Amino acid sequence: MKHLIDILDLSTEQIDGLIATANDIIAHPEQYREKCHGKKLATLFYEPSTRTRLSFEAAMYELGGQVLGFSEAQSSSASKGESVADTARIISCYADIIAMRHYKEGAPLVASLHATVPVINAGDGGHNHPTQTLADLLTIQKEKGRLHDLVIGFCGDLKFGRTVHSLLNAMSRYENVRFVLISPEELRIPEYLRQELEKNGISFRETQNLEESLPELDILYMTRVQQERFFNEADYIRLRDSYILTSDKLKNARADLSILHPLPRVNEISVQVDSDPRACYFKQALYGKFIRMALILCLLDIQ
Ligand code: NCD
Repeated sequence: MKHLIDILDLSTEQIDGLIATANDIIAHPEQYREKCHGKKLATLFYEPSTRTRLSFEAAMYELGGQVLGFSEAQSSSASKGESVADTARIISCYADIIAMRHYKEGAPLVASLHATVPVINAGDGGHNHPTQTLADLLTIQKEKGRLHDLVIGFCGDLKFGRTVHSLLNAMSRYENVRFVLISPEELRIPEYLRQELEKNGISFRETQNLEESLPELDILYMTRVQQERFFNEADYIRLRDSYILTSDKLKNARADLSILHPLPRVNEISVQVDSDPRACYFKQALYGKFIRMALILCLLDIQ
């Protein structure tokens, strides 16, 4: 594997390998401290980020490597009109690997066609977010001990939520996985994804009702309504609080439910829920660092 643009670039065997490496890093961090000595990661972030960028950077530092980059398009030559293709060519002269987040769908793919070093998609518009999915998969594997035989509820902004799209694609490849897609009518999954699920014979149901769906779920994947992708503020305001998970609502959920959220959270999970043992979202953010360490090693072909 040279780049990671789409989660489906990885086979399920490669995903198993990354999860195994992440678990080994968690168990023996000292064995990884010099693995990337002399290597540089460039983080090219044209859109805001806390977890993704900083966990990539922490990952590279913990592997003994170094980091350069920018955290907003305004401070790069993009503000002078430089293309993603040219930027990718140039950064390839300065870094050994690139993590790129861009507001345009497909921008990291374009970068990968022009870079001479591995490119990682760290989120492209409302499209995909494969490294969040790797963090989600590691979390599910650790919490449930398996990636198959699961009922997964996705709740919130399923239209613009790129983490949802990548995780749906990833989980579709495992045996006996069923999806419950909980969203307002206007924020249902995009048509192309619905067609993919249907074509692949994946079992899924769309609903607007969170409470009714909760009891059947093994995993609840909550998401933020993606304000930055809305064309009009009034629609965002009307839809932003469509779902708020509270301790009260969780009374009807399974005792072994795992609640995930890619974060940032706005209002969709009440802070009371944080102390519920079923809440996994802060662990999930930590696992994101370990799986990104595993991914960097894999893309740089370091054993
Ligand atoms: C997500 C994203 O950027 O898509 N955040 C993240 O990377 N963990 C989710 C979000 O912004 O709502």
